Amino acid sequence: MSLNPQQLRYLKLMDIDVYVPRHGVPVAAAIQAAATLPARAVELAAPVLPASEQDTWEELRSAVPACTRCGLHKERTQTVFGVGNPRAQWMIIGEAPGAEEDRQGEPFVGRAGQLLNAMLAAIGLKREEVYIANIMKCRPPQNRDPKPEEAAACAPFLQKQIELVQPRIILALGRIAAQNLLHTDTPIGRMRGQRYEYPDPKVPVVVTYHPAYLLRSPMEKRKAWADLQMAMAILREQA
Ligand code: URA
Repeated sequence: MSLNPQQLRYLKLMDIDVYVPRHGVPVAAAIQAAATLPARAVELAAPVLPASEQDTWEELRSAVPACTRCGLHKERTQTVFGVGNPRAQWMIIGEAPGAEEDRQGEPFVGRAGQLLNAMLAAIGLKREEVYIANIMKCRPPQNRDPKPEEAAACAPFLQKQIELVQPRIILALGRIAAQNLLHTDTPIGRMRGQRYEYPDPKVPVVVTYHPAYLLRSPMEKRKAWADLQMAMAILREQA
């Protein structure tokens, strides 16, 4: 596989060693060209959506901050809805807002978000091209795992987001996202490397490690890179 300078740069940012042929693009030069990565998405010109679809997004956007379906509403600073292209091919689904997301109201804006941006860039995607959401719209206190009843209360919001975006591929980040999306308790290490299907609407799902885990276990980044390659291959197959 040949990598362009930008991919080399982001693989380096993911801290994945890249072996470059003697006459290939020097990694250092590619990295030198790097600008700093913004965690927050640059707003894209909004695609023109049919009025009925726009109304449904609006309804959802008002329903989420008003939600009191579980106890997490008492602890939140604000809800974290989701961000990105409402017609994205790629939907990225994480677990729940952390402290920074709860403060800013946008998913994946902390350190894990920076790594997510680098992972996306390594496969040629800008953050604002994809749609990013979480299983949970509210931050669980001390970033504890969401309880099954909390995840169940929140599930209809994500279901509606998936129906509206109609992505061609879903990338599930981490155990909580994968297990809740696919209704399984299989450990994440066993879920990786396979293609799953979100049932309704039918969308292929690829499971990979959560960027927060990758920050703690950088040796696993190679596996995440393989997962991203698999997701790209699935998308190409569908074309
Ligand atoms: N981790 C997640 O799973 N989601 C976020 O939005 C931030 C960190």
